[in-house]
Amino acid sequence: MIEQRTKLIHAFGALADLGQEVANKNNFQETIRTSLHLISGSLAIMRGGVARYSRYGHELNMLAVRGLGDDFPLSLSLCLEDERQFLANGLNPIETEHAKVLPFFQVYDRSFDSRRIELFVPLVIRDEIVGAVFLGEKATGEPYTSYEKEIICAMGRHIGVAISQRNLMAEIERHAEENRKLFDDLRTTYNDTVKAFAAAIDCKDKYTEGHSVRVGRYSEIIAAELDWSADQVEGAATAGYLHDVGKLTVERKIINAPYRINAKESAELNKHPAVGFEILQPIHHPYTDVPLAAKYHHERLDGRGYPDGLYDREIPYIAKVVNLADSFDAMTTDRPYKARRPAGEVIEDLRRNAGKQFAPELVTAFLRGMLKELTGETKDKRFRRMLGREYMEAEGIVPTLRNTLNEMRPTTPLTYIASDQP
Ligand SMILES: [Fe+2]
Ligand SMILES: [Fe+2]
Repeated sequence: MIEQRTKLIHAFGALADLGQEVANKNNFQETIRTSLHLISGSLAIMRGGVARYSRYGHELNMLAVRGLGDDFPLSLSLCLEDERQFLANGLNPIETEHAKVLPFFQVYDRSFDSRRIELFVPLVIRDEIVGAVFLGEKATGEPYTSYEKEIICAMGRHIGVAISQRNLMAEIERHAEENRKLFDDLRTTYNDTVKAFAAAIDCKDKYTEGHSVRVGRYSEIIAAELDWSADQVEGAATAGYLHDVGKLTVERKIINAPYRINAKESAELNKHPAVGFEILQPIHHPYTDVPLAAKYHHERLDGRGYPDGLYDREIPYIAKVVNLADSFDAMTTDRPYKARRPAGEVIEDLRRNAGKQFAPELVTAFLRGMLKELTGETKDKRFRRMLGREYMEAEGIVPTLRNTLNEMRPTTPLTYIASDQP
């Protein structure tokens, strides 16, 4: 009796260790190995193993073995009848000697016999087989007592829960991976659609070919220069690509007018931000500001823009980004009634209008991006590719950029220079 109590105390100590092991260890393999070690150690069992059940392969794959030798199978398959019986048995030790009616014990009879596997414990957790524990004879050669079997059950439950948790984690990871892939696919589709749309918008306007695409790229440069996250940079590019989508509903002859349009035509054209917003608003964009950029990309800090004449902080930030990109493209491309302006002049214009039309810190970010490219600080050749090498490398651009940036620094960031409106 005393001996049995001592054994029990030992076993419960091991059980407590096991519980802690399962709770603490991140290393699953290690947890299982330690578990087997604790069971066999506390009950003086010479040989044993712990296996994980693969639902797909219908097999028990050994995770940890002790004293089973090289020829003991590392993978043991179950047939449907075995599964059914183990599930019905639940997490209780089965004496192999008395279970030979089951196909599983017939198939592996020789292996079990040669290693004297006496107990087989199917790890059934929440009505699912997650693994099994194999236990050889005790060092004393005596049969397992019912106390010992209870202890084995309790320990088996801990191991089963550890395996089940691991399976759950693997399942969650698999789902997360699947979702990530789906999301990536969707995003690629969205981005491709956005670009196709930009190309469609640009098709309508033969004089400003490629305008939306360039505005998308300039917006991207500004956002990247502001150290926005990859998502936000992508969002800024999208906002740029789609900012003029409302022009799709403006008559082609107004868009393509080879002269300065009259007031009526201008009023028609000026509807494009609001129309763009209407088009984009119902779409679920991965970036929330896209419709706002379309609506407010002709607003100015000084309130002289349209459609709502908003002032500085009333204008969504993304719209300020797109406004700068849009204006820059308008100044640097030929229009039917106006040739493009030299780069030096454009830079000066941006400086002069910082705080009036443009947010000063956006102007400095943009010019900084340009300077980095021209001085080779970045490998990008985006400006040169869009505007031509000759145009961007005209004499004096780099010093002009440097001077402008030096001059502008004290006014950044977010300085609002009051409008000179009456
Ligand atoms: Fe526009
Ligand atoms: Fe535009």
